Amino acid sequence: MKGIILSGGFGTRLYPMTKVISKQLLPIYDKPMIYYPLSVLMLIGIREILIISSPQHIELYEKLLGNGSRIGIEISYVVQEYPKGIAEAFLIGENFIKDNRVCLILGDNVFYGQGLVQILRDASQLNEGAVIFGYYVNNPKQFGVVEFDDRGNVLSIEEKPEKPKSNYAIPGLYFYDQTVVEFARNLKPSERGELEITDLNKEYLKAGKLKVKILGRGIAWLDTGTPEGLLEASNFISAIQKRQGLYVACIEEIAYRQGYISKNQLLKLANEMKNTDYGKYLSKIAYEI
Ligand code: DAU
Repeated sequence: MKGIILSGGFGTRLYPMTKVISKQLLPIYDKPMIYYPLSVLMLIGIREILIISSPQHIELYEKLLGNGSRIGIEISYVVQEYPKGIAEAFLIGENFIKDNRVCLILGDNVFYGQGLVQILRDASQLNEGAVIFGYYVNNPKQFGVVEFDDRGNVLSIEEKPEKPKSNYAIPGLYFYDQTVVEFARNLKPSERGELEITDLNKEYLKAGKLKVKILGRGIAWLDTGTPEGLLEASNFISAIQKRQGLYVACIEEIAYRQGYISKNQLLKLANEMKNTDYGKYLSKIAYEI
């Protein structure tokens, strides 16, 4: 399975913070936001990753992460000329996806919690169809919303409904089979002119091939859409890292623990940041295991 991180958009809801920088490069506590979704893909075991961003920002991502070889993965990059919708990722990413199944994660979605990785690894085993997730929130109107029956069959999905049929928001993390590009090609722009991810999921629903899995309340799916949300997410990550002395979304540590890089490589990466707590943490990990 391959992975796509969609990291474009204008970020206007966070102006002036995002006037000259990409939203998904803003820090969540001690690391750029994109580390969080990237770490999720790595933990699932996905090593071929495409990053999509806007023409003015794509170079920044390349500078930050390069071709991925330093952390034992393969990263490629492609531009989205204009934010024409989340589902456009599959058209832009067609040459990358080829005949593979694919996981799409939005560059501003931060997940954390016990059991998360196993749930996602299970979802990544899909042979046919699509898997989306449902997460209980108190403000479902701001998201895609999924309604399902007692057996977990999806009854409806709606994008930012006025009257949500459930409290289950759909996080920005989706798994699709090989037919996703074809489905995406047949989508029409919505009223707001975007190729909607919700419309794509509706196509899978119509074909009887959409599954929803619940991410329980023990899992955190954090909001990064407002200055308040960013601050809260930073405080959350800081509290956990301080308490445990273990880092969340430390891509170098994950690469090492997954066996993607050697101890020497980890130490080399640590040395480049040796004046920071982050760098010291990396060398501690190298000497511990
Ligand atoms: O975060 C989960 C939600 O993401 C889902 O519940 C919704 O169903 C889904 O539509 C989306 O809602 P948002 O209102 O958050 O979408 P937004 O337009 O803000 O885009 C989400 C991220 O994707 C944002 O960081 C920018 C990026 N993006 C968006 C579009 C439309 C792109 O890179 N390119 C695009 O064309």
